[in-house]
Amino acid sequence: MNELLEKGRTHDCGALRASEVGAEVVLMGWAGSNRDHGGLIFIDLRDRYGVTQVVADPSYDEAAHALAERVRGEWVLAVQGVVIERPEGMANPNLDTGEIEVRITKLEILSEARTPPFEIEDDSDAGEALRLQYRYLDLRRSALRENFIRRHQATQVIRNFLTENHFVDVETPMLTRSTPEGARDYLVPSRLARGSFFALPQSPQMFKQILMVAGFDRYYQIVKCFRDEDLRADRQPEFTQIDVECSFLNRDTFFGLMEGLVARIWKEVGGVEIETPFERLPYAEAIAQYGTDRPDRRFGMKLATITDVAGASEFKVFKGAVEKGGVARAMAGPGMASASRKEIDDIIARAQELGAGGLAWAKRTENGYESNITKFFLDGQLEEIGARAGVEVGDLLMMVADAPAVSASVLGHLREEIGARLGLASRDDAKFDFCWVVDFPLLEYDEAEKRFHALHHPFTAPVPEDAPLFDSDPGAIRSQAYDMVVNGNEIGGGSQRIHRRDVQQKMFAALDMDEEEAQRRFGFFMEALEFGTPPHGGIAFGLDRIMMLLTGAPSIRDVIAFPKTQKATCLMTGAPASVERLQLRELGIDGAYR
Ligand code: AMO
Repeated sequence: MNELLEKGRTHDCGALRASEVGAEVVLMGWAGSNRDHGGLIFIDLRDRYGVTQVVADPSYDEAAHALAERVRGEWVLAVQGVVIERPEGMANPNLDTGEIEVRITKLEILSEARTPPFEIEDDSDAGEALRLQYRYLDLRRSALRENFIRRHQATQVIRNFLTENHFVDVETPMLTRSTPEGARDYLVPSRLARGSFFALPQSPQMFKQILMVAGFDRYYQIVKCFRDEDLRADRQPEFTQIDVECSFLNRDTFFGLMEGLVARIWKEVGGVEIETPFERLPYAEAIAQYGTDRPDRRFGMKLATITDVAGASEFKVFKGAVEKGGVARAMAGPGMASASRKEIDDIIARAQELGAGGLAWAKRTENGYESNITKFFLDGQLEEIGARAGVEVGDLLMMVADAPAVSASVLGHLREEIGARLGLASRDDAKFDFCWVVDFPLLEYDEAEKRFHALHHPFTAPVPEDAPLFDSDPGAIRSQAYDMVVNGNEIGGGSQRIHRRDVQQKMFAALDMDEEEAQRRFGFFMEALEFGTPPHGGIAFGLDRIMMLLTGAPSIRDVIAFPKTQKATCLMTGAPASVERLQLRELGIDGAYR
């Protein structure tokens, strides 16, 4: 029987101050290191709220002192004692409780612990695999735990804001049909309907639209989504969306509402005032200037289109690319004229790795442009290119001519990488630059598959005046989709939706889906559109990405309590794992494994 446990805590481990000196208290928590100084045993007692130094003095309580001698790191203790002021010169200004310590009058060991595989310290240097395997130990580190406390604050703020604005939280199924968002589905076999599968939702997209048909007017949900796709630092196979849908709102009103939500999160969770409304950047402009649809606009190095000049030069590689319908682009590397040959070779190699045939360069010195290719450019051509790219004396001019998407994405990536290397933008930068990227194309042509894909998803409405192009030039149709972008991160994406069945059918047809397939996969949804569908639209924010930005975490794994590795496995539970043959047989899928 643990007497102290029965008695209960009087304070948490972060609470005691000099004003409590003299009080008798009961604390519980995890033991840090056990230090013996001249017969006194000092233990740092830690819980979620902080750390308090407790001291076992044999002259106070011999039994407690004897027990304290046994205590090891991460044991769980209950301590009763008296708060005393730390002796002169012993206060710890780095600790909230640093002015006091607790002299132990009674000690109970609530739980012993194995020696942890790594030290529970904020700057732990243990490898990530080990920390993921023992995630519960890693989560004892206050810096990591703090991310989850802030995540909790964020969801509270979101719920409050949306509730104030008449949104209703409705749960949608996890066991459902495939909702196309461009990734592979995670499938769940049905035991009762042999050979049939549920898909875990890539998003609640169709359900939230159907809730608009049902008249909910304003819906939200903080919801898990599942996508079997290649993972990156900002992607997990299961992640959380703040999913939103509204009826009868024009885009400007909707943007204003969502800007209000984001501003509230940043203010209450990040302590940062952000300016609204956000600038709107057409997709075409984002690609032309930044080489990406999620631009980091905190620094310059904007791309310039130089196809005309490159095509008129004597540089065969450029001329050839331009003749094949390519686009030539240029970018300035500030202060990089001093780059060594090796550094430039590395940039070229990186451009090739990113998919470019090559990268041409010239150094802008006091004497003009210096490079191995200046001879291919006529008088004034490099100057013209440099002027467009904003090259100054001391800069490096970089140029790529390739297929339009390739030259944009290669220079776009290089811009981000070089920008980070030059310290022009970093993750822990307190500056947040928000914008909406708008006017996306509706469809994207897949050269390999020789067919169109929906750039966003197939429920996104076309710009009304472009709708006739479905029959003549589908690739030119603009969509009513939008992304919210912050410092080079896409934190949300959405659109105004198709709310008419005939348009929805045209969209499926443009995606090469015949009527039979459209009916089989989306019949229930198209039918719903026939029963009085209000014009509607919405967005989904990536909560994990928002938390990465607000905490400055370098990886999405730092803001997910039990994340998966890059290979989509859980090192703590060992999932995914093999299962018994019997279980497969019950599900009717054991044949696949014979
Ligand atoms: P979208 O696919 O753009 O839109 O997703 C919305 C937001 O979710 C986040 N996100 C992810 N975060 C972590 N890991 C992932 N694998 C991942 N995939 C996406 C991003 C992204 O901006 N149904 C539509 C929304 C709508 O149209 O209303 C949708 O899911 O921050």
